[in-house]
Amino acid sequence: MGKAFGAVAGVGAVGALYAMKRSWDPLPSVKAAGFTNVDTSTCVENKLVVEKWRGKPIFILKKTADMVSSQTEADSARDVIIDGAHFTVAIGLCTHLGCIPAYREDRTDFLCACHGGEFNASGIDTKLPPPSPLVIPPFKVNGTTLVLGEAGEEYKKMKESGVTA
Ligand code: FES
Repeated sequence: MGKAFGAVAGVGAVGALYAMKRSWDPLPSVKAAGFTNVDTSTCVENKLVVEKWRGKPIFILKKTADMVSSQTEADSARDVIIDGAHFTVAIGLCTHLGCIPAYREDRTDFLCACHGGEFNASGIDTKLPPPSPLVIPPFKVNGTTLVLGEAGEEYKKMKESGVTA
């Protein structure tokens, strides 16, 4: 009786573990490809969207016309143009020690609360200690969809010209 109960309990435990593992695993296609598709058509100017790609936060910021007209060439070189709009797309991890900076809409910049580092709206470091701009993840633009994880032509150009690490 004890053995029979043990066997039944064992089967139940394996079944429960299998069900738990299935619920933890991402969908096979997502896992295999490692891509995240982001529909940018609903993005609002100066409102930061944070997506997740490969366990990392990805900042997506649609710039206002004022932000675009007042920015430098270095800022423009980092712009991702989607359907005519200018976006900042960057891995949301501070290049100092990896904290997640917060976006300040009123100042249109990022503040890293860990050690006071700052980045402008394009993700360029403007106040130490961060040693470099926020890193731009591999991306591809497909209509109004931003595909994170796929290195499109725009991304390759940025990488080759040293705009991003
Ligand atoms: S981790 Fe961001 S300033 Fe240190």
